[in-house]
Amino acid sequence: MERDADQEFRRAMGAFATGVTVVSAARPGAGLSGMTVNSLTSVSLQPRLVLWCLGDQSERYDTFAEAEYWGVAILGADAEARARRFARAETETIEPHEAEMFAGAPVLREGVAQFACRTHERHVAGDHLIIIGRVLDFRVRPGPALSFFRGCYGRIDANDFGDK
Ligand SMILES: Cc1cc2nc3c(=O)[nH]c(=O)nc-3n(C[C@H](O)[C@H](O)[C@H](O)COP(=O)(O)O)c2cc1C
Repeated sequence: MERDADQEFRRAMGAFATGVTVVSAARPGAGLSGMTVNSLTSVSLQPRLVLWCLGDQSERYDTFAEAEYWGVAILGADAEARARRFARAETETIEPHEAEMFAGAPVLREGVAQFACRTHERHVAGDHLIIIGRVLDFRVRPGPALSFFRGCYGRIDANDFGDK
């Protein structure tokens, strides 16, 4: 049972609106796993580095903690079902036709941006593992993105703010 103060902290951080991504990696046995992640952060331009934070209670911890090559797809606005699917271990499997190899990393074939990453550093921080990845390649596509704010999915479009 979560303590009140923890719930309050979660609620406060939920006021930080984010995009939604799916991080993908090969399982140690076989197949590909995808996890819904909103902790993605840009870290450095030279060299290009990004990070995300992996919870240590995740059933998929070993897959993502140990992966050397992994992908990130920033989900488009129409992908709420995909975000819900990859937030559950029972439906984490990425079918072969849903992914592609991009600069040596398995990446979901969708989204408004994709990144191929190789693990650069890992740091244990409390109950999460910070995974810093070197960006091997990336591409970006036009279109609105899926957002996450106060526990709800939404849509964010540059045109909504008059930015053409
Ligand atoms: C919008 C959203 C963002 C999430 N972001 C993260 C994240 O940054 N890091 C993380 O470890 N889990 C994150 N999760 C939770 C995982 O997707 C997953 O639900 C959790 O790891 C429990 O499933 P598992 O035990 O099968 O891994 C997020 C879930 C949602 C719905």
